[in-house]
Amino acid sequence: MVSNVYLGRRKLLLGMGSALGAGLVSACATGQTGPVATRQAKGGSVLTKPIIIAHRGASGLRPEHTLAAYQLAIDQGADFIEPDLVLTKDGHLICRHENEISGTTNVASKPEFADRKKVHVIDGEPYEGWFTEDFTLAEIKTLRCKERLPQLRPGNMAYDGQFDVPTFEEVLELAKRQIATTGHTIGVYPETKHPTWFEGLNLSFDAPLVTLIQRYGLDAADAPIFIQSFEVTNLKRLRGKTKAPLVQLMAKDGGPFDLSKAGVTYGSMATAAGLKEIATYANGVGPEKILILPRDASNKNLIPTSFVADAHKAGLVVHPWTFRAENYFLPDDYRRGQSSDPTYLAQHGDLIAEVQAFMAAGVDGVFSDFPDIAVQARASQ
Ligand code: G3P
Ligand code: CA
Repeated sequence: MVSNVYLGRRKLLLGMGSALGAGLVSACATGQTGPVATRQAKGGSVLTKPIIIAHRGASGLRPEHTLAAYQLAIDQGADFIEPDLVLTKDGHLICRHENEISGTTNVASKPEFADRKKVHVIDGEPYEGWFTEDFTLAEIKTLRCKERLPQLRPGNMAYDGQFDVPTFEEVLELAKRQIATTGHTIGVYPETKHPTWFEGLNLSFDAPLVTLIQRYGLDAADAPIFIQSFEVTNLKRLRGKTKAPLVQLMAKDGGPFDLSKAGVTYGSMATAAGLKEIATYANGVGPEKILILPRDASNKNLIPTSFVADAHKAGLVVHPWTFRAENYFLPDDYRRGQSSDPTYLAQHGDLIAEVQAFMAAGVDGVFSDFPDIAVQARASQ
């Protein structure tokens, strides 16, 4: 059963606290009613729009941010795989949603790392645990991944302990190998996590990220890559360092940490004027899905906002997050089963219908933990 404690800690457990280019797909999707083939992307095959972005891999079916999760997503037909990135002490980019890694690895059970446990205030919030910036890549490679949401995804616990923490370079290698063997374009959609925090430790994403995307032939406006961030300053800086498409992430509440002193909120960034400003440095926006289809007090969908039309008018593509099959995440409209059932919140609802509602609202792509279902939704809309 999924407890109320779990529900109360949703933000922390799901990693929602921090809160998805014109170069890759056309921004002119308004009024689109079905999947359309777009341009010939690097790697050979034609990408279909709206694109399906595997959120942390096929993370509904495998522990997130593992090569197994990314591989399954590719096998299921995802167009892009999404690695969230953090940095190690020795400056390597590794795939984790947080720099605090006790929720998704076995670090807490490793006696040799017991003395690395710390409390850090990151982006204004205190966190206790083990932080990637205190580990070398060699040390990180001794850890094993585990399922983040065992209450909702108990089946994934069968994979606990099987996979290591991948580097961003390993993900790029995987995508390159898949393109070579299948002939299908597999894009990568890296997110820079907590750039201001890492810069304060003299660890910057810019150099390792740009070096790798250049090495893998992705430093081009039409390359199958999007670089995303919830912060603004690093995206603006990256605009001067790479031609790759950039995506400004935004949540319904809060604002970018780097601009918190200036009082900038995601609410102001999500207005028509705010989106126009974003288009001066980015190619797309990754909004929390509620910014497009809000819900009423009883968790039912309301009519779409003007967000998609405003973003398209500004020339931005729109890739909302996150599409998950469990009732827990779905609006009442798409929940299925008996609410009295103790497993009700972990049961799957009608994710196809939810994805199709957003596709009908004109989005250019979706981040999903279940890329197989999103691909199915696109095919049958
Ligand atoms: O990057 C898009 C989406 O993943 C943002 O949320 O917290 O899951 O990285 P998060
Ligand atoms: Ca992300």
